[in-house]
Amino acid sequence: MNIGIPAARNPAGECPARAASRIAADFDPFGADYQLDPAGALSEARACEPVFYSPRLDYWVVTRYQDVRSVFRDTRSFSASIALDPITPLAEPARECLRGYGFAAGPVLVNEDEPLHMRRRRRLAPPLAAGRVARLEDRIRALVARYVERFAARGHADLVDDLLWEVPAIVGLLVMGLPDEDIERARHYAIKMGLFTWGRPTAEHQVEIADQVGRWWRLSGELVARLKRDGGEGWLPHAIAVHREQPDLVNDNHLQNMMMSGLVAAHETTTNATAGAMKNLLSDPASWRELCADPALVPGAVEESLRYSSSVLCWRRRAVTDVVVGGVPIPAGGRLLLMIGSANHDERVFPDPGRFDIRRPNARRHLAFGIGAHACIGAPLARLEMRVILEELARRLPGLRLVPGQDFAYLPNASFHGPRHVRVEWDTSPAG
Ligand code: HEM
Repeated sequence: MNIGIPAARNPAGECPARAASRIAADFDPFGADYQLDPAGALSEARACEPVFYSPRLDYWVVTRYQDVRSVFRDTRSFSASIALDPITPLAEPARECLRGYGFAAGPVLVNEDEPLHMRRRRRLAPPLAAGRVARLEDRIRALVARYVERFAARGHADLVDDLLWEVPAIVGLLVMGLPDEDIERARHYAIKMGLFTWGRPTAEHQVEIADQVGRWWRLSGELVARLKRDGGEGWLPHAIAVHREQPDLVNDNHLQNMMMSGLVAAHETTTNATAGAMKNLLSDPASWRELCADPALVPGAVEESLRYSSSVLCWRRRAVTDVVVGGVPIPAGGRLLLMIGSANHDERVFPDPGRFDIRRPNARRHLAFGIGAHACIGAPLARLEMRVILEELARRLPGLRLVPGQDFAYLPNASFHGPRHVRVEWDTSPAG
């Protein structure tokens, strides 16, 4: 079968003949170029060799919007089963550490294939629907306000350390349905798990993370047991109800894995997306001023930020049959890296993609949340959180500006992407 647009190699002579092999050999998702400008690092690939095999990673790399979109939508030819596999294989000491905690990774929605995936998704998704999460808006706003109050008089802050690291973790745990005292315990387990799946930790660092993962796994089991006993309202209590009705569809291992991976899904992704949004807005003071003057611009700014600085840069699929993507044959079993961040800068869909434009008419076509059967079911919550955080910062601290001269550092990570710090300052006079 053939999906996507066949690659038009060197259409206008802008691709040197040897570019193709060089692009594949040079591609390094942990390298400085990619970390600093993930879409820019693949611009030559988008033009000259939109689908290529990376021998370094043993993955087929897909860079154009239409190809990425088509693969996401094709659940017959592509399996999602590898979605959570560590991209850097775990060394034995890390595996041993996880075994010590009785860690038993099982399928969750994101790495499950049809038809079971959709059967589970339909039963599990309702608590995350837009209408349901909208009910949390007041609680999220109050939480954000509490955090902003802590530093509002200070005149300077690191938006990540002071606000954006903790709020999405707490909101994630709230959505899971944990009572306040358990949120307080569990929020300390909001660790950088993205590094485990998408990073390049050393063997020693792997053990350190494995230890944290193991502890969170154990606590996840305890928390599920308490919710089973005490009941509650939210995503996990809903899943527990499904488990009681259809234990073959949602079993105990599945509940523990949901708690465990739900925090990762809800936390770093949203932290990074919001940190990216604030960096984008404050790097373009005219946009920030406009947005402060007219909060109706916030939803558009959120969509444009998700496009411009996607916090999940790539996602994975495995070909279950011989396929052709963008004109390139990929054998059955081939693993694909779908480069979301690159697709969101594809000039064929987003004119002048390197320009951050909070009024971009088609920004919402971005693929930041994937698309198709597995499209992110947390998107309504992520959008709500981002909107509330931007609205509260714009209302309370319109005089925010970036501390000049700061370098934005990123964790070496192939997919989870966001600035580690966003240092800001403002005048503390009544005018803010
Ligand atoms: C800006 C924040 C977020 C981004 C960029 C993001 C991105 C993604 C992506 C790219 C996928 C994979 C789509 C695919 O395989 O086709 C996904 C799936 C998923 N996300 Fe998110 N996500 C975010 C926030 C959240 C939140 C807040 C939650 C939970 C409350 C969440 C829960 C999930 C779940 C459960 C799936 C699996 C859905 C399925 O396979 O059926 N995500 N997300």
